[in-house]
Amino acid sequence: MFGPVFAIGLSIALSGLVSTAAYAQEPAPAETPAETARLEYEQVMTLTPDLENGRKVYLTCAVCHRPEGWGAPDGTYPQIAGQLRTVIIKQLADIRARNRDNPLMYPFSVPRILGGPQSVADVAAYVAQLPMTPDNGVGSGEDLALGQEVYAEHCTKCHGDHGEGNEAEHIPAIAGQHYLYLMRQFDAIRMGRRKNSDPKMVKQIDGFTPRHQAAVLDYTARLRPPESKLAEAGWTNPDFPSYVRDPMGVPPMPPMPAGLMDAPALPEPPAYPSVPPAR
Ligand code: HEC
Ligand code: HEC
Repeated sequence: MFGPVFAIGLSIALSGLVSTAAYAQEPAPAETPAETARLEYEQVMTLTPDLENGRKVYLTCAVCHRPEGWGAPDGTYPQIAGQLRTVIIKQLADIRARNRDNPLMYPFSVPRILGGPQSVADVAAYVAQLPMTPDNGVGSGEDLALGQEVYAEHCTKCHGDHGEGNEAEHIPAIAGQHYLYLMRQFDAIRMGRRKNSDPKMVKQIDGFTPRHQAAVLDYTARLRPPESKLAEAGWTNPDFPSYVRDPMGVPPMPPMPAGLMDAPALPEPPAYPSVPPAR
């Protein structure tokens, strides 16, 4: 009596199995921005970087991050020079997959402008070998003893004793970064605005007072990268000898990526109805 029903049930179960098996052979489609970024990160990590192409790609980045990669002490643009290669790759993948919101940089990060995974590998290697500014923005310097204590207690485990980060775990180097940039990122991480933040870090800094935060980030900004990673004061990047620097201390607006301004033409306005003639 239950035979036919059982048979139908079995065949449905089997067809489910068959289709699942067929599906499993194809690469799983990325379903979230985080997954898209993770897949690109893994692909980029298999490639051999070409520094010469990295230099060419970097020309776009130089407009905001400056030819030296030193960003701006006011924190608007981070220093990226000397950042760990894996961190740069992860951040680029996250930004273009929209796993980290960066509306200003986003249009310059898309594959059509920046290029595919090979270009990401190339520019990341180029940026990682740039020497860092010896003169980054720092805080007031008033609370460094507390900053040192907080750093040792809460940050060394992941970011390292000297703020050097962790290449294998793509944990950012934070030593020598501009203080105001550190403050902005810390706020974004603490308040959940930075999508790609590390959940363990969010937990670790839960309950920090503004004083703790300012103290630890001032201390972090003052941590010195090793001598070998620092440029001489006043160094300019010889790779961009004819770069036109901001004439009035204001960086020029970056060029609009091609296509961004080609909005479809507005339709012709309807003809104005002519006034009916007076009778
Ligand atoms: C239009 C300006 C602009 C351009 C062009 C630009 N960036 Fe950025 N970039 C930014 C800003 C602004 C941030 C910081 C955003 C924030 O506050 O979260 C940033 C952040 C980053 C970060 C994350 C740094 C960190 O430590 O968190 C990396 C890496 C980066 N940019 C690399 C690049 C590279 C490589 C290029 C060229 C392919 C590039 N950027 C082009 C503006 C720009
Ligand atoms: C459990 C590990 C962990 C701890 C503890 C931790 N962090 Fe982080 N932090 C991370 C990771 C991982 C990221 C990068 C997340 C991402 O974007 O992929 C990060 C990102 C950051 C950033 C943004 C850097 C950038 O270039 O954008 C700052 C600033 C920062 N951490 C400061 C701190 C400070 C200061 C402490 C101590 C008070 C701390 N973190 C403790 C793991 C940690």
